[in-house]
Amino acid sequence: MSDFNSPYWSYYIGTVVVLGLFACMFLLWKMSKSNGQPIDPGENGHVWDEDLREQNNPLPLWWVGLFVITTVFSAIYLLLYPGLGSFKGNLNWSSSQEHAQDIQANLDSIAPLYAKFDALSIPDMAMDPQAISIGSNLFLNNCAQCHASDGKGSKGFPNLTDSDWLHGGSPEKIQETITLGRVGLMPPMAQAVGTTSDIDNLANYVLSLSSSPHDAVKAKKGQEKFTVCAACHGAKGQGVQAIGSANLTDQIWLHGVGQVAIENMIMNGKVNQMPAQKGRLSDSQIRVLSAYIWRLSNNAPS
Ligand code: HEC
Ligand code: HEC
Repeated sequence: MSDFNSPYWSYYIGTVVVLGLFACMFLLWKMSKSNGQPIDPGENGHVWDEDLREQNNPLPLWWVGLFVITTVFSAIYLLLYPGLGSFKGNLNWSSSQEHAQDIQANLDSIAPLYAKFDALSIPDMAMDPQAISIGSNLFLNNCAQCHASDGKGSKGFPNLTDSDWLHGGSPEKIQETITLGRVGLMPPMAQAVGTTSDIDNLANYVLSLSSSPHDAVKAKKGQEKFTVCAACHGAKGQGVQAIGSANLTDQIWLHGVGQVAIENMIMNGKVNQMPAQKGRLSDSQIRVLSAYIWRLSNNAPS
């Protein structure tokens, strides 16, 4: 492996480019004259099939002119812009710099708008039609791929429009979730629970917590096993928002409905991640989004 930061490759590429330009000019100079003495003016003596002859005319002047202009253009371009190895060009232009400038210009142009929102509390912003319309666009661009365009989510991706929250639904908690991201972690619990019939019984007990269809006899047997779950889900299975453990007493299921889905959770556990937006979105954008989400949910005033 060669070291691509060493000057070797820079000189190598620079030399190839310069030699290429000279080769073009040389070819042009060579071809714009006729070579040697043709047998007949305009002919080079090559004859095939008795009467098929090769012409030896100089290149048309307009074409040579265009070629020269192109070559001169290349030389000037290579002096001004990057192209000769690692030579940066006299204008010191770079695409990443231009991109950064565009982003800054864009941020500057929307700064006054966000300054207005920064002065509002999240609940006040939730009542501001302009903030909600910007929040909706931000949501469609950054969040809808996981939470669906209406915010109702899907299996594994929480519904943001109901009042059931893994991590809390206050404006502050929503802002914290979006800024720092969240990891919902439930370890596989099969070993701690016991045999397959223990798991079967426990799953029925979990179903009974939300009055979902279940086998009452099995549920009764499974109840004592719930102590290993209570540490995270609370004694009554109501969930603990500080660690994002799901509420098992409602009929809202993030990872699937019914006995099989619950047994799956017990046996395999789950790692579920909401990616942090800090660094991707500005603090002001995150506040506007928080207002949008807060309003989507049942928590918001109508
Ligand atoms: C790559 C997929 C993905 C993207 C993109 C994403 N999220 Fe999430 N989000 C998740 C997952 C998964 C969870 C559930 C985390 C858990 O199980 O603890 C979540 C959880 C949340 C929660 C907490 C829900 C609760 O019940 O407490 C909020 C609020 C949220 N997301 C808002 C957003 C916003 C706003 C955006 C856009 C900036 C966004 N998410 C982008 C996957 C995503
Ligand atoms: C270390 C903490 C922890 C323990 C112990 C734990 N869980 Fe969980 N559980 C979680 C977390 C966190 C989630 C949410 C996962 C997510 O964010 O997607 C969860 C989710 C679930 C779900 C899915 C809920 C839904 O809405 O789909 C079920 C069912 C469940 N747990 C049952 C159990 C049972 C039964 C036990 C006991 C055997 C148990 N859990 C033990 C942390 C725990």
